[in-house]
Amino acid sequence: MTDNVTPETGTQGEGPSADADARARVKIFDTTLRDGEQSPGASMTLEEKMEIARLLDEMGVDIIEAGFPIASEGDFEAVTEIAKAAERAVIAGLARANRRDIDRAWEALQHAKHPRIHTFIGTSPLHREHQLSMSKAEVLEKIRETVTHARSLCADVQWSPMDATRTEHDYLCESVRVAIECGASTINIPDTVGYTAPRESAELIGMLRREVPEIDRCTISTHCHNDLGMATANALAAVEAGARQIECTINGLGERAGNTALEEVVMAMRTRADILPYATGIDTRRIMAASRLVAQVSGFPVQYNKAIVGKNAFAHESGIHQDGMLKHAGTFEIMAPEDVGLTTSNLVMGKHSGRHAFRTKLSELGVELGENAMADAFVRFKALADRKKEIFDDDILAIVEQSAAEA
Ligand code: KIV
Ligand code: ZN
Repeated sequence: MTDNVTPETGTQGEGPSADADARARVKIFDTTLRDGEQSPGASMTLEEKMEIARLLDEMGVDIIEAGFPIASEGDFEAVTEIAKAAERAVIAGLARANRRDIDRAWEALQHAKHPRIHTFIGTSPLHREHQLSMSKAEVLEKIRETVTHARSLCADVQWSPMDATRTEHDYLCESVRVAIECGASTINIPDTVGYTAPRESAELIGMLRREVPEIDRCTISTHCHNDLGMATANALAAVEAGARQIECTINGLGERAGNTALEEVVMAMRTRADILPYATGIDTRRIMAASRLVAQVSGFPVQYNKAIVGKNAFAHESGIHQDGMLKHAGTFEIMAPEDVGLTTSNLVMGKHSGRHAFRTKLSELGVELGENAMADAFVRFKALADRKKEIFDDDILAIVEQSAAEA
C-alpha cells in the first residue's frame, strides 16, 4: 500500500524532500543518550550507546548529546568514544555551571570533529532558592564565569537556563543576554517540567527575540518535557516563533513522562509542510530502525498506539477503514509507511474487519473460494474473531479448511 501520499506534501521517504531548501532549516538535537538515559531503568552499555549514536549520525541527526561526562566513568567513556567515532554530527556533552564539569566534558569532547559543550544552570525562583541557594546576582555571575570558561575551550557552546518556562521574564532575558555576551552560540530554552502550553511556548520565544534582539545571532533551541502530553506541540510552537533547533529523543524517552519525540516532530514537519514549512536533515526511513533499537536497548517498549512508531500506527482493523485502505491508502493514512521505514501498512484481521479485507487476506494467502464457501468462511471468521483478540493467518487457513470440508 504505497499510494497514500497526500497531495500537499508529495512525501517520498528519501530523507529531506526536494523542496527542502526553500524551507527554513530546523536542526535536530537528539538527547536519547543523555536525557533519554535519565529515565529510571533505561541505562545503556557503552556498546549499546555506540550503536545508537552510529545510527543517529547516519540518519542525519545534527547534534547528538552523547552524555553527561562528569556523571560517571561510564558516561565519560561513552562521550569520549562517540566523539571519536562520529562522522557528521556535532557531539555535545552536558556540564553543570562549574569548572570541573566543563573541563571533564571538554576532556571527552575534544576528540570530536565537531564538539559542543552544553552548560546549564537553573534560573527559575524555585531552582535558585531551593536547589542552588543562590541569589539572582550570584546566578548571573555563574553564567558569566562558566560560559566564558566553556568558550575558552570550545568554539561551540550551548547554554540552557533550566526551568526557563517558570523563570521571571525580565530575569530570563538578563541571563540570556549574559550568556550571549560571554560567547554562547546556541540558546536552549528548556521546559524542564513540561509545564508550558503551545501558545505560551511560542510567546516565550517571541518575547526573547523582542527583548533580546541579539538572540537572533544565535540558534534558538527548544527542549520540552512531556509531563502534560504537550511536548511535541510546544516544540513546534517554539519553532513557529523562531526556534531553529529542537531537542528530542527517539520514542520520546526521557525523565518522567519523557522528552519531545524525534519521530513526531520530524514527521509533523514533513507531513504538514504546508503549515509547518521547516526542513530537517533526517532520513525518515531510518526512524523505525532507530525506534526498535532504542526500545530494545533501553528495555522501554513502545506503546502500541504511539504516534509514528507504535505497532498500531499503520494498522487498520475496522471494516470501513480496511475497505477504504484497499481502495486508496490516502483515505485513512496521512503518511506512507515506507517514509518511516516500514514496508507496508497492516490490515489486522479482527472482529471489526469486513468482507473486502477478508477476501483480500484470502487471496494474499493464495486461497480461492467460491461464493458459498466464501460466505461460510466469513461467518466462521466473525464468530472466531468475537472470541479471540488476534486472528493469525493460521486461524484463517483453519477456517478455510473447515468451510471446504463441510461444503
Ligand atoms: O530539562 C532540562 O532542563 C534539561 C537541561 C539540562 C537542558 O534537560
Ligand atoms: Zn530535559
